[in-house]
Amino acid sequence: MTTTSRKGIILAGGSGTRLYPITIGLSKQLLPIYNKPMIYYPLSVLMLAGIREIAIITTPQDQEQFRRTLQDGSQWGVELTYIVQPEPEGLAQAYILAEEFLNGAPSAMVLGDNIFFGHGLPDMLAEADARTTGGTVFGYHVSDPERYGVVDFDADGRARAIIEKPRVPPSNYAVTGLYFLDGTAPARARKVTPSDRGELEITTLLESYLGEDDLRVERMGRGYAWLDTGTHGSLLDAGNFVRTLESRQGMQTGSPDEIAFQKGWTDAAILRKQAQLFGKNAYGAYLKDVLEQE
Ligand code: DAU
Repeated sequence: MTTTSRKGIILAGGSGTRLYPITIGLSKQLLPIYNKPMIYYPLSVLMLAGIREIAIITTPQDQEQFRRTLQDGSQWGVELTYIVQPEPEGLAQAYILAEEFLNGAPSAMVLGDNIFFGHGLPDMLAEADARTTGGTVFGYHVSDPERYGVVDFDADGRARAIIEKPRVPPSNYAVTGLYFLDGTAPARARKVTPSDRGELEITTLLESYLGEDDLRVERMGRGYAWLDTGTHGSLLDAGNFVRTLESRQGMQTGSPDEIAFQKGWTDAAILRKQAQLFGKNAYGAYLKDVLEQE
């Protein structure tokens, strides 16, 4: 049986400087990826993993916008908690900020700008969720690993190190921004010291698990899309990818409304209300279709 107590974290702070001038006045994770705010996609991933208690970590100034966009989560049968990160002091800091929220529970943290798509995703998430001790992360083959945390594999294909933005990458496998960690993550995060760039690095936290042989690095195969939104070009590409997929299939990706309904977390009345809210556009029409097909 999978644990029901795993809680979710979406890390959606940061300065967003790489997308200036767009992100001077707006949070990156609220920018559109075609027809939805970016954060809908990582939120959908946590929901697909069956997680219903989720903390959203934002900058102090952006929290209000996230609250307006996502509300308390009851429209999707989830419970959202908002936490402020005063300064962008690193990904591992999220676990310290969320320590009280987690209250000892295992967690799945996803970066608010990471977009995943793939047929086997729910199964892959269920497997990671089922492991209640240690951690699971996902390695994805990319052409530019030096931009990410990179996995160093030994001769037997086992991960022996994870290196943040190495000048000479030991492999093409980037660690994606989705981390399933057990309840010890906050205590471990408190032991992480700032890197040369002054951040509490997620890779240092992961290495603490790796050092105890307690970290699984799952390879996410080429049947998955892990999209980048870090530059103006890749942001547009991600939007075009979603548009291409949705118009070809006539189905939505990254819809918390649909996922919640299909999981039985919301009922027809709630979905109908949501469909009415978006009534003037294709997303609303799609939700009506989901309702009628039930
Ligand atoms: O996307 C996966 C990569 O994410 C991993 O491979 C790397 O190991 C990991 O360090 C991270 O690398 P990035 O260069 O993408 O990190 P960035 O500083 O851009 O932060 C990622 C997201 O997290 C971004 O949307 C902003 C947010 N963030 C970042 C920091 C440092 C916060 O909310 N708070 C923070 O303190």
